[in-house]
Amino acid sequence: NYYAILMAGGVGSRFWPVSTSSFPKQFHDMLGTGETLIQKTFHRLSKLIPTENIYILTNEKYNDLVLEQLPNVTQKQVVLEPAMRNTAPCILYASLKIQKENPNAVMVVAPSDHWIEDEHAFIENLQASFEKCKKENVLMTLGIQPTFANTGYGYINFEKSENAIKKVHQFTEKPDYETAKKFLESGNYLWNAGIFMWSVNTIITAFQNFQPKLYELFDEGFSVYNTDFEDDFIRDNYGRAENISIDYAIMEHASHVYVLPATFDWNDLGTWGSLYDKLDKEENRNAVVNAKPILQEASGNMIRTTNKKVVVIDGLNDYIVVDKEDVLLIYPKAKEQDIKKVLQKVKDTY
Ligand code: GDD
Ligand code: MG
Repeated sequence: NYYAILMAGGVGSRFWPVSTSSFPKQFHDMLGTGETLIQKTFHRLSKLIPTENIYILTNEKYNDLVLEQLPNVTQKQVVLEPAMRNTAPCILYASLKIQKENPNAVMVVAPSDHWIEDEHAFIENLQASFEKCKKENVLMTLGIQPTFANTGYGYINFEKSENAIKKVHQFTEKPDYETAKKFLESGNYLWNAGIFMWSVNTIITAFQNFQPKLYELFDEGFSVYNTDFEDDFIRDNYGRAENISIDYAIMEHASHVYVLPATFDWNDLGTWGSLYDKLDKEENRNAVVNAKPILQEASGNMIRTTNKKVVVIDGLNDYIVVDKEDVLLIYPKAKEQDIKKVLQKVKDTY
């Protein structure tokens, strides 16, 4: 009865120029290991979940990439979205399809683009969460020990207890900096890893309660799901769904939320700098992917190119140096959040 929903519809804009909207980061070998991020995630999940029960949710324009990179996946497992509406609509849609196939399903919803090295610990955490979801109608998430006031994450305020799995008081998605700082100082908070576990019935009931409009929209198509008429229904209706993430739509409102503090290292690989943190470094702390660099005492750089010689000399330290056939990007790691602003300008010309 174990199922997985793999979220693979994001664009990964801060990894430009490698990640683009026609070829986003989950389909790239960002770590230089020979596997793309979605392949790594799929293999990790298949240690516990039968491969035929792993559904990939993505925009219709990435259908070919998914089938190419995951040859064990059939078209039936690729759930296609005709419009970008963030994570809540596609999670509800896929959940209804899965419920129709197996009303006893227990599932994990996972991003396709995160770094998790200790697969063994990950699977143990997943198993422990599934056990609870089989017995109780709860929404579960995995929590990460926060290290700084990051405003890009969800924050989980939990009840202290002896139990490994803790009751959640309040889930706060992407607080402002002051609030994040306050949360961090108060101690009883974890970051949301964005990996959720629940039974299919529990999540659908939560949508019914907290997002009745979205529920009605997708429930209307229930009779045609998993039939030849499904595509037509989705094409006509998907665009009407509100653009909202699962965090705002459900997690902030539900009261039956529990968190398991993760026992594995986690990184959401959001930026070149976070990738740099996770890669092996050479003696001067440079991280190098796909490049043949000649480094003269330059240090702390993140270098990724398309298999060419790169010469970097002392003075260029703590920079990101990334190229593609037709683009070269060089900028200080400390400025990496600014990439989105620059991209807007770039898009007009590139
Ligand atoms: N199928 C599909 N469709 N997937 C999507 C869509 C969509 O429209 N939008 C985003 N995704 C995928 C992304 O590719 C990613 O794997 C995952 O869903 C989460 O989306 P993000 O856009 O990366 O979310 P976030 O980083 O802002 O916030 C979430 O993750 C944080 C941890 O990394 C939240 O859950 C936060 O609470 C959490 O802390
Ligand atoms: Mg993210």
